[in-house]
Amino acid sequence: MVKVLFVCLGNICRSPSAEGVFRALVEDQGLSETIGVDSAGTSSWHIGQQPDSRAQAAARRRGIDLSTQRCRQVKPADFETFDYVIGMDRSNFADLSSLAAGARDRVHMFLDFAPETGVKEVPDPYYGGDGGFDEVLDLIEAASKGLLEDIRQNHL
Ligand code: 4NP
Repeated sequence: MVKVLFVCLGNICRSPSAEGVFRALVEDQGLSETIGVDSAGTSSWHIGQQPDSRAQAAARRRGIDLSTQRCRQVKPADFETFDYVIGMDRSNFADLSSLAAGARDRVHMFLDFAPETGVKEVPDPYYGGDGGFDEVLDLIEAASKGLLEDIRQNHL
């Protein structure tokens, strides 16, 4: 199984959204037995919580249910378990790179899988308006397609 871990700061907005969108894509492609998906936060602030209600509402409008997800913090063993550890912004990437020790080649920036967007980081929607969550989902949908293509080319 190829395992993917999405990581943001809080694990209540961006990375749970990425987990939900990417899992739906994986299921749609009949690859649920082949690709595993999870998410985590670099911070401990929201451990045990459901995704932010605004993230849940935005995802639900696209047919994706985030309600069963619970926040957890990224841990050193994740860099052995997961083939892809994917940060949403440069700050996540820097934090993951320093935690990864010898496994830095597993750490990625999500939007590197969507160069056509011209955007480098998934913006943090936490302190913004509801529109930020739709922008986040648009970027996540684009990068999810690119990530699946990368997995197909390199692992399947
Ligand atoms: P996330 O967004 O990293 O996309 O989950 C945030 C969630 C919470 C906070 C910051 C960003 N916070 O400051 O609590």
